[in-house]
Amino acid sequence: MHVGVLTGGGDCPGLNAVIRAVTLALIHDIGAEVTGIERGFLGLLDGRLRRLPAADVQGIVAQGRTILGTHNKRGPFRWQGSDCSDAALATLKQHGIDALVVIGGDGTMAIAHRFSQRGVPVVGVPKTIDNDLLHTDRSFGFDSAVAIVAEALGRLETTARSHGRVMIAETMGRYAGWIALEGGLAGAADVILLPERQCSVEQVAEACRQREARGECTLICVSEGVRLHGELSVMQTLADSPDPLRLGGVGAQLAALLQQQGLTSEIRATLLGHVQRGGTPTAFDRVLATRFGWHAARLVEAGQFGRMVALQGDAISSVPISAVAQGSRAVPPQHPLIAAALSLGVTV
Ligand code: F6P
Repeated sequence: MHVGVLTGGGDCPGLNAVIRAVTLALIHDIGAEVTGIERGFLGLLDGRLRRLPAADVQGIVAQGRTILGTHNKRGPFRWQGSDCSDAALATLKQHGIDALVVIGGDGTMAIAHRFSQRGVPVVGVPKTIDNDLLHTDRSFGFDSAVAIVAEALGRLETTARSHGRVMIAETMGRYAGWIALEGGLAGAADVILLPERQCSVEQVAEACRQREARGECTLICVSEGVRLHGELSVMQTLADSPDPLRLGGVGAQLAALLQQQGLTSEIRATLLGHVQRGGTPTAFDRVLATRFGWHAARLVEAGQFGRMVALQGDAISSVPISAVAQGSRAVPPQHPLIAAALSLGVTV
């Protein structure tokens, strides 16, 4: 058995831990040959593939980034305006690759599904700091991003207290508020703003005002996908991306709007940005990534293709990739963490 492994979409902490786990499990347990495909599906178009012997994946479990490289532009089915999937399939055939393990988010799973429809045996592994993939309770990378948000809020809190300021931290997450919700709770934010919930600038200002009256500073955690006055804050538009809008800047916008609400405190905004995607994965993410990688190898061994490994409750299972490619997972309005935050007096 010859298995190709690739990482697609934006990077996140834990990718190398999956590559290590799936590669070693495939080599040790089923005697497979493993080939790394570089820069996601692009490697199949420009022929950038390299053998992955066990020695090449040693010592990488704690490393951020991906040793295979990645990209989040359009895939082979719409590469530079045309369908180049035949060329990608020809590369697989030329290298004698029997199956693919694809590590990525919703965009990558959508491409994996199309390869699967074209007869390529594919196993998926869910990756995204946003934690917004359907049918898995957790994707690796999320815990690391939450830890970074929590640490940033802790640091912002001490300086906010010294100056009696309102401090805003803007998180990633795209259209889902998972990072802001868990990061905000872990970092003891006083206000947590999510794309899934309506909370007006006036409500936020009122929360700050009440805290000012008690002589308290305010810590706000806002998710990049929050719409202020109904508008998304778009930082960049990338024409050749399947997901062209790059969000960012809502924290600064919120600061400007709060400034007009007559607060006496000074207001500062910090955009956490790609810091949330860099650096070493948490121990939780290393373990989850290892479990996912190991289970992906089990699916290959069992010939269960067209499926993505998933964490459901405490157990690893698998779901059809077709079901994952159908959308994304938002924070439910009645989520217990929202109820808990409200009980604690957090403005959500
Ligand atoms: O999907 C992961 C993510 O980090 C989002 O949270 C963020 O909106 C986006 O990717 C940023 O993408 P890029 O790396 O292209 O700026």
